[in-house]
Amino acid sequence: MDTLEAIKTRRSVRKFSDKLVEDQKLQAVLEAVQAAPSWSNMQCWRLVVVTDAETRAQISDLSYVESFFSTRGYKSNPAQKGIADAPVVIVLCAVPEQSGEMKGQRYYMADAGIASENLMLAAHAVGLASVFVGVFDEEKLGDLLGIPAGVRIVGVFPVGYPLSEPKSGPPRKPLAEIVHYERWKE
Ligand SMILES: Cc1cc2nc3c(=O)[nH]c(=O)nc-3n(C[C@H](O)[C@H](O)[C@H](O)COP(=O)(O)O)c2cc1C
Repeated sequence: MDTLEAIKTRRSVRKFSDKLVEDQKLQAVLEAVQAAPSWSNMQCWRLVVVTDAETRAQISDLSYVESFFSTRGYKSNPAQKGIADAPVVIVLCAVPEQSGEMKGQRYYMADAGIASENLMLAAHAVGLASVFVGVFDEEKLGDLLGIPAGVRIVGVFPVGYPLSEPKSGPPRKPLAEIVHYERWKE
């Protein structure tokens, strides 16, 4: 699969089969994160790879934040079942001090975001699937996984084989709405 095809056909997958993820494929996903570009090549990301079923169930529980979802009419995070069912869950963290800052803009989120896309694209390229889960109780999740104070948890990624072939994704804004040529025009 070439890069553009991978980018265009990747989908967020929230339902996984119980088929195990081969070590070689997991390794390819981890190496894709390792290969990501970052501020001054400081590589602020850290990963916690979880396979233990009980811990995955606990991470799933912690991926519902009532104050966030109840106001939006959700009784669960759409990806929660996937976190419990996927054989591997990768928790992607960042050490903010190991990235840059310019005029109050902290680049650890950019570094971690790029690493996240590498993770999801690599999973897709080797026939696996994933989803970026950005809503979770960071404090409790940090306690559960022993993540040191000051290290931020950026995303939780269930990784496994999709239960069914993903349908086409949600629509994107037209290029005309998101691209300006030469100058920003209203
Ligand atoms: C930063 C970020 C946070 C996200 N958090 C969640 C989440 O908590 N739960 C979920 O089901 N999907 C989550 N998603 C997935 C998006 O809903 C999904 O990427 C979007 O709807 C586009 O669909 P696609 O990934 O299939 O193209 C998140 C995506 C991003 C980039």
